[in-house]
Amino acid sequence: MNSKVISALKITGLDSNVITNLIEIPKDIAHGDYAFPCFILSKTMRKNPIEIAREIAGKIKSKDFEKVYAVGPYVNFFLDSKKNAVEILEKIIKLKSMYGSSSIGKGKKFMIEFSQPNTHKAFHVGHIRGTSLGESIARLREFCGYKVTRANYSGDTGMHIAKWLWAYSKFHKGEKIQDDEAWFAEIYVEAVQKLEGNESGEIEVAEINRKIDSRKDAKLVKLWKDTRLKSIAAWTPIYKDLDVKFDKHFFESQVESAGKKIANDLVKDGIAIISDGATIIDLKKYDLGVWVLLRNDGTVLYSAKDLALAKDKFLKYKIDESLITTSVEQNLHFKQLIKTLELMNFKNWEKYGHMGYESVRLPEGKMSSRTGTNVLYADFRNELVDAAKEEISKRANVSNKEIGLRSLAIAMAAMKYSMLKQDTNKVIIFNKEESIKFEGDTGPYLLYSYARANSILDNAKYKQTDKIKLNSIEVNERALINELAFFPDEILESCNNNSPAQVTHY
Ligand code: ARG
Repeated sequence: MNSKVISALKITGLDSNVITNLIEIPKDIAHGDYAFPCFILSKTMRKNPIEIAREIAGKIKSKDFEKVYAVGPYVNFFLDSKKNAVEILEKIIKLKSMYGSSSIGKGKKFMIEFSQPNTHKAFHVGHIRGTSLGESIARLREFCGYKVTRANYSGDTGMHIAKWLWAYSKFHKGEKIQDDEAWFAEIYVEAVQKLEGNESGEIEVAEINRKIDSRKDAKLVKLWKDTRLKSIAAWTPIYKDLDVKFDKHFFESQVESAGKKIANDLVKDGIAIISDGATIIDLKKYDLGVWVLLRNDGTVLYSAKDLALAKDKFLKYKIDESLITTSVEQNLHFKQLIKTLELMNFKNWEKYGHMGYESVRLPEGKMSSRTGTNVLYADFRNELVDAAKEEISKRANVSNKEIGLRSLAIAMAAMKYSMLKQDTNKVIIFNKEESIKFEGDTGPYLLYSYARANSILDNAKYKQTDKIKLNSIEVNERALINELAFFPDEILESCNNNSPAQVTHY
């Protein structure tokens, strides 16, 4: 917020934060650059806000403003527009790509866990939303001074793995293990289909789950380990495309035994109970149902593993704040988790945050799905790259290599921007044609604007050391300068609200 306006308004006796929150931007710049509503003061000053506005306007005599006057209950401020423009532009030129950054997070360690695909399963469009969101929040936090740890957490044990191993052993035995997510996803989908109404199959799967859980069957454990590594390897090209690097990759298999121990300790502490042989926490009085930690065969569940993970994050990595993003389907699980941490008197339970995001849907029949329910990353990406290629060939005559580079950059921009611009509580109906457009509210349009802006700078032969001279300033330029001036506030708010959508709107 404009510091001159804030300091001029100190005469109201209000706190600067209060002032900042109250200041408005007139819709029409002809009414000023900023406006301050005086309603809040009328109670303490026992006067009509119109009168107050007139008084305040009369008292502000600063050379920073071209004029200040009252319009009804508002004090309207007109900045010295030339001076303001030079100041803003000089700041931007000095700070370059750090313009808008801040140090509010200085000294604070923030861990964001995002993306979290499971091994032996698809990396699908929903994962793209989560990955884009997490990476964007990480960058916002870094820009605001936080020390950010990017964490990933994958399910590499549990029922879904048992199902996959069951289908592979039964229907694909000896088949070469491929580092291709589509191959893994197809076998997983086959498992789910063949297990439907198949009681003996379910018994076999439960048996495999126990064997993996106890790590006792050497042959099976080897198959699990080999396939696990290939499945993880299949993510490497995806994260390369998306330009995301993780500092830490947690796996469920690493927190299994710690999870079991916590579950057993919770029984001793009277927080969990044994019910029909299973270890559960009754959270009904908090309206959070029953949370099962261990099955009646002693195998460990997602829930107990998450308790162990929470402990690790704070104790081993000494973070100050944690945020986990997942699909909204897991909202209840995280409420149960955080409530349990609270019941355990876990020191940092309030700093263990969760953010659920809605799903991504594709208009019926719009994109091919090899696995029935979800569109795989690779298929989604390739369709966008092809669409981008078509757009490029319409406009430019460039080499195939250049088309390859540009189409990937454009496809990624289209993909990420459409994932980020929608608020997390809204479903995304992904529209390929819309997302790839070179004009409008799209990622490719941002790339285009960036390229254009750079070429304007080139053509102007602008040098960093040049002094800014302004002879006159037009009203639309004034509005543009104001927009640029709002950027740091927008960043700060987006960061505080973990809301990349806010920056995309800006
Ligand atoms: N891998 C999990 C899934 O696909 C998401 C992990 C979320 N994070 C967590 N700490 N539970 O369902």
